[in-house]
Amino acid sequence: MNQNQPLPTVAILGLGIIGSQAADHIATGGYPSITWSRSARDRSDFEPDPKAAADKADIIVCYLKDVEAVRKTFETIKPVLCPEKTFINHATIDYETTEYLVSECERKGCAFLNAPFTGSKVAAGKASLVYYAGGDESLIDRLQPFLQTTSAHVMRVPSPLAATILKLTTNLITASTVQALAEGLSINIAHGIPAHTYLSAIDPNACASALIEMKGPTMTEGDYDPHFSLSNMLKDARYMLDLAERAGLETPGIANTTAQMQKRNDLGEGERDFSILFRQFTQE
Ligand SMILES: NC(=O)c1ccc[n+]([C@@H]2O[C@H](COP(=O)([O-])OP(=O)(O)OC[C@H]3O[C@@H](n4cnc5c(N)ncnc54)[C@H](OP(=O)(O)O)[C@@H]3O)[C@@H](O)[C@H]2O)c1
Repeated sequence: MNQNQPLPTVAILGLGIIGSQAADHIATGGYPSITWSRSARDRSDFEPDPKAAADKADIIVCYLKDVEAVRKTFETIKPVLCPEKTFINHATIDYETTEYLVSECERKGCAFLNAPFTGSKVAAGKASLVYYAGGDESLIDRLQPFLQTTSAHVMRVPSPLAATILKLTTNLITASTVQALAEGLSINIAHGIPAHTYLSAIDPNACASALIEMKGPTMTEGDYDPHFSLSNMLKDARYMLDLAERAGLETPGIANTTAQMQKRNDLGEGERDFSILFRQFTQE
């Protein structure tokens, strides 16, 4: 972006846990912005029609939930997409929807960047997301200053599809780790060893991680305030299983964790944090 030119107008679609905070950072960064979400929000930049929001914008970014939300919203705004606009997907989506966005944007002549991210509610608040950015090098160069308004780092990956696969398979480790932590905590507690002793034992161990440091204390306290919802981790797990199937692989670890998440989701816990997986051992 040329420093002497006015900043492009941005439409932010999806004002959930991450999108609402990203929209604030984009506006603070000086970008004229318009926001849209399925349910109305009390914001001065809110536009109730996604097509009108996209029509007024040069850059359209999407922090929507899942493939259903992305496809439905994309189809609504598609008529106004054109070579002057850029569409950036930040939602975690599946293989097929990534291919669909690539081909539909190509058909409209609209620039497309697939940039799912890592970093949860706290990182979004600090504008410290990390994007896995798959798209043209020159497009990423051009978008770099804009992406910096919400992120600490933009990691370039080989293609839009690679961004989806890398994002989903890192989440595979996240979901599996929390399931393992839930099991380990439960075994210790059942044998009379306090949760904090187990967490202290993990600390110097090679299995320690920022994830365990974050989730261990809140799980122990039964605090499931959503940073990343169970329903979102569950849909990601389904997309991971689809990736494995496409590769002709059986992945029993994530298949079992998916089944546990499905059970909690069916009990109405979908909008709590995904670490509520621990509940399978603490109450039935
Ligand atoms: N939270 C995290 O830690 C995290 C980390 C990495 C990646 N992600 C990914 O980033 C994306 C956003 O995450 P989030 O945590 O902000 O999600 P979220 O809080 O669940 O927000 C989801 C957004 O999607 C909208 N939505 C849901 N279903 C819809 C539908 N059928 N049609 C249209 N809009 C729909 C919601 O609209 P309304 O609220 O207006 O109804 C909301 O704006 C997801 O793909 C998630 O997997 C999240």
